[in-house]
Amino acid sequence: MRKRKNNLSFSTSINPRRPQSFKKLFSAKTRPLTAAIVGIALGDEGKGRIVDNKIQTFLNNKKVKKVAIVRFQGGNNAGHTVEKDNIKLALHLIPSGVLYKETINIVDRGVVVHPEDLVTEINYVEENAGKLDNNLFLSEEAILCTDLERAEESLNRMKSPAAKGGTGRGIGPAYAHHYDRLGLKLYHLLAKDWESTLFEKYKLYKKIFSTFGLKLEETVVPDYLQTLENKKAASREVGKEEVFLERLKKAREVILKRKLFRNTFPLHESIYKSRDTAVIFEGAQAAGLDAWLGTYPDVTSSNTSAFGIREGTGFWLPEDIEKIYGVFKIPYTSSVGSRIMPTHINTPNASGKKRMTKDQAWATWVREDAHEYGTTTGRPRDINFLDLPMLSYNIRMSGVNMLIGTHLDTANPTDKIKVCSQYLDKRGKRKSYQPGLRNLTGVKPKYVELSGWDGKECREVKNKKDLPENAKRFLGFLEDKLGYPIVAVTTGPSRENFISFRKS
Ligand code: IMP
Repeated sequence: MRKRKNNLSFSTSINPRRPQSFKKLFSAKTRPLTAAIVGIALGDEGKGRIVDNKIQTFLNNKKVKKVAIVRFQGGNNAGHTVEKDNIKLALHLIPSGVLYKETINIVDRGVVVHPEDLVTEINYVEENAGKLDNNLFLSEEAILCTDLERAEESLNRMKSPAAKGGTGRGIGPAYAHHYDRLGLKLYHLLAKDWESTLFEKYKLYKKIFSTFGLKLEETVVPDYLQTLENKKAASREVGKEEVFLERLKKAREVILKRKLFRNTFPLHESIYKSRDTAVIFEGAQAAGLDAWLGTYPDVTSSNTSAFGIREGTGFWLPEDIEKIYGVFKIPYTSSVGSRIMPTHINTPNASGKKRMTKDQAWATWVREDAHEYGTTTGRPRDINFLDLPMLSYNIRMSGVNMLIGTHLDTANPTDKIKVCSQYLDKRGKRKSYQPGLRNLTGVKPKYVELSGWDGKECREVKNKKDLPENAKRFLGFLEDKLGYPIVAVTTGPSRENFISFRKS
């Protein structure tokens, strides 16, 4: 009897890394038309815009009919602004491609999903940008996060200052319970017996809270719906079990009715084989916040680099990807959380009477010029001088092969720009960057100063050669120090403020 040919079987005899049939399809080592976009600083680098630009680039390619955008880690602790046809949206969980008809948007198995917030975000997108075009898919294996994990995060904050920096979205506890195997997946919520599973979990949490003398139902958690309505951070109580279950039930019904969930594995198989589908892996947070290699303990709880794509999709490897872009802000780095980086500029609050130093005045100017305030919370972000030891380390550990710089317009001709070129230890000896806040304590940054330029002049520029000389010099300096090419920059807040230096 002739054996049925199984095109998708993972043959180990030829290449254990890739199915034989896939190998025949593409002779190149990487899968053509693939890109990953990851942050290499401390988050909020402007990755959403880069993803948006890459979607357009792919769609301008005649060979491409569809673009898949895959979120592989993080949850709605992230925030990115996307813009299309004068519609500007602040997204948190939904991939940046959702405004395009020709996209397949996947929230994959490595992502933490809070069902009610997801539904709120879908409604927000639809109210502001029109109906979603059946182009959003959730992995059934995504990590389920409810108000219980959020309440747990607030309990953790009481237990230890190490837990204080989190966004309150329950991301840490949700990932922790993936590792301790006590956590739930989206498929638990979709199952018939979901109510008893979640009721049991509620009872367990209630017991845990009572041992700390706390009432679970009165514990306050972020309220995304109210936040959107009030346009400022809002919170609510977890509520009694029936309230908790009712909220989840409503979100569950929407997910089921709209058939948002998928086994994403076959979806990836067909995307991989389709010659006219490009793929973008959309990173959230950044290498500096990576659970293992970031500023521990004030880190997020996932693998934020291109290496996280393996576990976050269960299918793709970083080696499959043609271009891995590391995104960073060119003249400075911003940070939210409790971490104090060696290059942190301690700005007094605006009402402070004290005269500001030159550095403080510059950081205050940067914060206003670049609007360095949280996407949802409006919280002012910390401003740090650009930190080359940290960036170099993050680039190396992220699997990045080229760089994209944002905020080239956040500069002025009168201020010099300070850049940390090296770390020195207490005795003035050179010290390497090592991950973890413990290793950054006591480190003294050594600075070099480079001349600034008229940032607003950059906005009109379409080619690298027409940029102000000092801006070009600064970019050259960074390429030289970081050892990687900067292939594009953004020069202002609108979509047009983007210069590609080469076919990237
Ligand atoms: P968590 O991810 O909510 O647990 O927060 C852990 C740390 O990561 C905190 O310092 C957060 O401020 C930071 N963080 C999480 N997501 C982002 C982001 O999208 N941008 C910047 N910082 C973030």
